[in-house]
Amino acid sequence: MLPRPGRPTLRAVIPDPDDLWIQADPLPTDPFPLLSAWLDQAFEEGSQRNPHAIALATLCADGRPTVRMVLCKRVESEAGAVVFYTDRSGRKSAEIEADARVALVFSFAARERQVRIEGRATQTDAADSDAYFASRPRGTQLAAHASRQSQPLRSRHALEQELARVTERFPSGPVPRPPDWGGFRVVADRVELWRGRPSRLHDRASYRRIDAGWEVERLQP
Ligand SMILES: Cc1cc2nc3c(=O)[nH]c(=O)nc-3n(C[C@H](O)[C@H](O)[C@H](O)COP(=O)(O)O)c2cc1C
Repeated sequence: MLPRPGRPTLRAVIPDPDDLWIQADPLPTDPFPLLSAWLDQAFEEGSQRNPHAIALATLCADGRPTVRMVLCKRVESEAGAVVFYTDRSGRKSAEIEADARVALVFSFAARERQVRIEGRATQTDAADSDAYFASRPRGTQLAAHASRQSQPLRSRHALEQELARVTERFPSGPVPRPPDWGGFRVVADRVELWRGRPSRLHDRASYRRIDAGWEVERLQP
């Protein structure tokens, strides 16, 4: 919730005396184990809803950037990649098909941590998409069949009618994955870890992928 005018800004930052890794030189050689650790910690602490929510930016055909939230469902540390799932017939998917370059950001606000990623998105394979779709609650599986993401909708009622039709089609038993629904894997070529510090003297570690791993440099805040 945003602070109301006239009230002091709430700073619900969890004290973090042990989190000194990014203050030390040399910096960690690989950003992904730290991303995983930060994400796990945010889930364990329950300090924010959907800590795996990421803002995902793509490029429109005319070069304009556009951004929306998605949920990061997997961090693949070894590959240096993150995975999200979506309707592949929607707008973001068309933009990715046209230009695979994307940028995304995680925010772990309670600990003043941010992770920026730039990279390329490609579709995950059918087995991966099937497995994730099968793990979803039945209601969301049916909704995936009822909705054609990003297409115009005549009315809310029309969407609910479509859901009723889909529910009749799959009254019980497993719901198959819609052919256009599935995952995207973003393989990072740049990553920045950011950790807020008092007096705006923040820590920033900027990683660039090189053949053998990652090249890292510290940036001014
Ligand atoms: C917290 C949050 C999480 C979301 N997660 C997803 C997601 O994992 N996949 C998805 O397709 N849309 C997700 N959405 C909806 C998207 O932001 C977006 O409205 C939708 O994907 C259509 O985007 P597009 O028209 O650019 O393709 C999420 C929205 C919010 C606010």
